[in-house]
Amino acid sequence: MTQPSSHYAVDDVPAVGASAAKRGFWSSRMAFILAATGSAVGLGNIWKFPYITGENGGGAFVLVYLLCIAIIGIPIMMAEVLIGRRGGHSPINSMRTLARIFKLSPRWVWLAGMGVFASFVILSFYSVIGGWATSYVLTAASGQLSGQSADAIGAMFSGLLGDPVRLLIWHSLFMGLTMLVVARGLRGGLERSVTILMPALFILLLIMVGYASTTGHFGEAARFLFQPDFSRLTTQGVLIALGHAFFTLSLGIGVMMAYGSYLQQDISIARTSVTVSVLDTVVALLAGMAIFPIVFANGLEPGSGPGLIFQTLPLAFAQMPWGSVFGTVFFVLLVFAAWTSAISLLEPIVEWLEEMDGMNRVTSTLLAGGLCWLLGIASILSLNACPLAMFPLFEGKTIFDLLDYLTANVLLPLGGLTVAVFAGWFLKRATLEEELALPQPWFGLWYSVLRYISPVAVAIVFVYNLF
Ligand code: TRP
Repeated sequence: MTQPSSHYAVDDVPAVGASAAKRGFWSSRMAFILAATGSAVGLGNIWKFPYITGENGGGAFVLVYLLCIAIIGIPIMMAEVLIGRRGGHSPINSMRTLARIFKLSPRWVWLAGMGVFASFVILSFYSVIGGWATSYVLTAASGQLSGQSADAIGAMFSGLLGDPVRLLIWHSLFMGLTMLVVARGLRGGLERSVTILMPALFILLLIMVGYASTTGHFGEAARFLFQPDFSRLTTQGVLIALGHAFFTLSLGIGVMMAYGSYLQQDISIARTSVTVSVLDTVVALLAGMAIFPIVFANGLEPGSGPGLIFQTLPLAFAQMPWGSVFGTVFFVLLVFAAWTSAISLLEPIVEWLEEMDGMNRVTSTLLAGGLCWLLGIASILSLNACPLAMFPLFEGKTIFDLLDYLTANVLLPLGGLTVAVFAGWFLKRATLEEELALPQPWFGLWYSVLRYISPVAVAIVFVYNLF
């Protein structure tokens, strides 16, 4: 393994845990890009992006989303990776290390701790949805979809949601797969799996787009996605686009910090962050181009929400020739995407536990994954019997909804704000310059955006979502 000659935090700063010596690095720039893209590309791209685009009127919303990625997402991703690499540890201990070096309040660590908490919560329900996707691979492959009516497919979906035992089995399987990869460590697990899964995902997606182009509604879908009609864009749509930029790039809870902590010193943070963001965006747009032609060809409703993938699309698979094959391909793709994202949600927690004396990778994975699995059971139960319904405040919301709301609308924006403020206002400019090694005017541009534009924009989303 080629260790970088001077990894600042490892060489000059007393190790926080016993882990500093045994830490590894990504084997190449490509490995980091694949892993970070694997994290970014997930249910957010294939499931959420198409349906929120549908609900918010298409083109204009997509344009705002693209602007948010460029102006807020990329600068904050660079800051996260930078903090992780400079700190050289898990998000919690990287923040601790940097706070110590720069003589800042140790309370910054609490904010990283909040990120770990958020990772737990997101992973717990992410795994449940990952479980749905996994179960649909079997449903499609066994030919159960073919020839079914809309009602029958709707009944299949509610049948799954109403069966805690089946949900538990699929959730356990999905979490097990995630833990398996994380337990095997950086190179043997994470790197190896993304090197296979990410190109596979890309190919599967292209196959789906290829099929979609034969439906005769490709142009309609393209116009829907790319022809901005600003009369259909609401203020709320703008804010949803901004929030989604965070979710889809995996920002705000330290995932990119964790991945950055394994990044060699000589690799450009700016170039890799831009590459990852572009790939993530391309996948979201491709997913749109795979899904909307099918939706339009079958006269389905683009804004039908979470049901889009699990109810309306299976209906299309039920009717199209080779539907079982395409359906299987699609759900395998969804599982791959969700899997590499779930891995990234578990990694920062495991990295942190591993830094404690006496905790090896396998024990850390079992502990962290086991807790997420338990929390996931609460989501599963809430899909059926809904204990929260007893409280008027939470009327109509399940634990599942609540966890989703709490993380996406509160914890992520708050985390993103923290990262921007910490890097932009509390770290030394010289340190940032050294880490990014960017020529002017690029550094100056990034620095001002990070200090002024990103935090203000994030604060607006945050406040908006609270009220
Ligand atoms: N970005 C992933 C998606 O689009 C989800 C995800 C993985 C995530 N890690 C994250 C979201 C960290 C927020 C924070 O599905």
